[in-house]
Amino acid sequence: MNKIVIANFKMNKTDKETKEYLINFLAKYEDYKSNLIMAFPFTSLATAKYMLDGRKIALGAQNICEDDKEGCTGEISGKMLVDCGVKYVIVGHSERRNKFKEDSKKINNKIKNALKNRMTAIVCVGESLVDRNIMNTLSTLKRQIEDALKGLYENELENIIIAYEPVWAIGSGKTPTAKEVELAVKSIRKVISDDFSSKAGEQIKIVYGGSLTPKNIGVFKDIKGLDGVLVGRGCLDSNIFIQIINSII
Ligand code: PGA
Repeated sequence: MNKIVIANFKMNKTDKETKEYLINFLAKYEDYKSNLIMAFPFTSLATAKYMLDGRKIALGAQNICEDDKEGCTGEISGKMLVDCGVKYVIVGHSERRNKFKEDSKKINNKIKNALKNRMTAIVCVGESLVDRNIMNTLSTLKRQIEDALKGLYENELENIIIAYEPVWAIGSGKTPTAKEVELAVKSIRKVISDDFSSKAGEQIKIVYGGSLTPKNIGVFKDIKGLDGVLVGRGCLDSNIFIQIINSII
């Protein structure tokens, strides 16, 4: 399988900037190279859908409402995302957990709503610096994964990607070592094996995210059990992003 590459544009790119970005990017990107998912801000989704038409690139979103019921001013429903051509949605990013106080119940509901709308949920988990310093990385991952996947059926895991994103690595320029990522990946697979089945543990898709650049991407290329990467700042410049993609495949 080609490596999964997820681009998280966060709160970047106006509609016009998205158009300019994609003109440059699509001129250089070769579709066969990876399993690419581009998660744009909501305001760029319609333009991105139009521009990605016919290309082997999936459209992603960065958030979804907990449910599709009435009375959710300011929110975006699963139905709206599907209508924009969205196939993947990022849930549980640490910026949403921390800045927007999204708790584990809300994250679990968002994942269920993404699945109900036949999208794949990219579920972000990762330890804080404090957790890391007191050797709580693996227990944090276990708790976050179990809370996030509560009530899911094993067959629904086909539509889940776990993004291991240590909070201290996001936007900091710091990254864990290959050994540390390998250990985290192994422990995520064990949690899934214990809670669902060993087949589910083997098959669950896991990516790493946090401060990836063309310089350090090589470290993450051959980590055992790792299916790909999630790139934040590194995707904002199309030339830099192409370099990252070319180095991981
Ligand atoms: P970063 O962000 O690559 O800028 O560290 C990754 C993320 O937040 O998803």
